[in-house]
Amino acid sequence: MGCFRCTGKSSKKSENLNNDYSDNKTNKPQDQTASDAVKVNPDVNVKESEVKKEAVSKHDQLALDVKGLNMKEEVSKDGQTNGKRAQTFTFDELAIATGNFRSDCFLGEGGFGKVHKGRLEKINQDVAIKQLDRNGHQGIREFVVEVLTLSLADHPNLVKLIGFCAEGDQRLLVYEYMPLGSLENHLHDLPPGRQVIDWNTRMKIAAGAARGLEYLHDKMKPPVIYRDLKCSNILLGEEYHPKLSDFGLAKVGPSGDKTHVSTRVMGTYGYCAPDYAMTGQLTFKSDIYSFGVVLLELITGRKAIDITKSSKEQNLVAWTLKM
Ligand SMILES: Nc1ncnc2c1ncn2[C@@H]1O[C@H](COP(=O)(O)OP(=O)(O)OP(=O)(O)O)[C@@H](O)[C@H]1O
Ligand SMILES: [Mg+2]
Repeated sequence: MGCFRCTGKSSKKSENLNNDYSDNKTNKPQDQTASDAVKVNPDVNVKESEVKKEAVSKHDQLALDVKGLNMKEEVSKDGQTNGKRAQTFTFDELAIATGNFRSDCFLGEGGFGKVHKGRLEKINQDVAIKQLDRNGHQGIREFVVEVLTLSLADHPNLVKLIGFCAEGDQRLLVYEYMPLGSLENHLHDLPPGRQVIDWNTRMKIAAGAARGLEYLHDKMKPPVIYRDLKCSNILLGEEYHPKLSDFGLAKVGPSGDKTHVSTRVMGTYGYCAPDYAMTGQLTFKSDIYSFGVVLLELITGRKAIDITKSSKEQNLVAWTLKM
């Protein structure tokens, strides 16, 4: 059993789409992204009417959507942020925080771009700064959806977005720093000397990830389908406390008596629910399928997709089903 339309490397998002996110913006309520729905939510102060007056391209429109969010956060006297809304940072502030994106601050790289560790003195906090690679697979839409989703979310098992930078062409996201990195770093291709995580810790990580998912599905208003649950998106804090990260693909879930949202297939090969991959009908259960794959990885120590194995063993779900 495999995901027929999600093709590509297991570590990268892949989809049957190109980089033009603009045609994803339809008026159909069932094809809303998280950002689309949030625009009509008065809580986030989106000045949509002002935004619409501008004669801009759709990509510029998205950038304006972020700027119209009125997310500017005052930093209190003790250096902490007031509330959960994201702050805006200048590019210079983030360059200084990372020593001009020095190579020894480099944490890793995904489809969005490079991630560096930094230190923001004004809030007295270590952060992880993700910089959009303009030539990469992901883009402005994911940046906007990430900011909107995480600005509304607040849960101990979701990574905190501290702020963002949308200056000129630059798009950067600033997160709380997760000292143990991603679950993937602890499960697969361990560097010499790294301890294998024990069974109890594995179950603690699974339970925390499930709580984060439950919050997205059942507590958030509007409810959100994550679409990107995988080991590399489960970040680990002190004592392996897990937090879900990367909400750029998130979609508002079906409302009323609808069972699904119809959308282009996006996700990561190996984690994508086969029914969603075949029909484009996204449901909350699509995330549960991905959670099941993560659980299998935790239990078996195998990768969701491992092309170094024999063909019968490459796909973890297919291999498990034959047992
Ligand atoms: N908040 C954070 N704290 C510490 N490390 C982080 C943080 N966010 C990301 N990283 C590290 O940066 C690396 C790249 O992460 P990123 O989310 O960009 O890509 P990915 O999840 O590996 O791939 P994909 O783009 O397919 O989702 C990962 O190795 C991750 O461990
Ligand atoms: Mg990630």
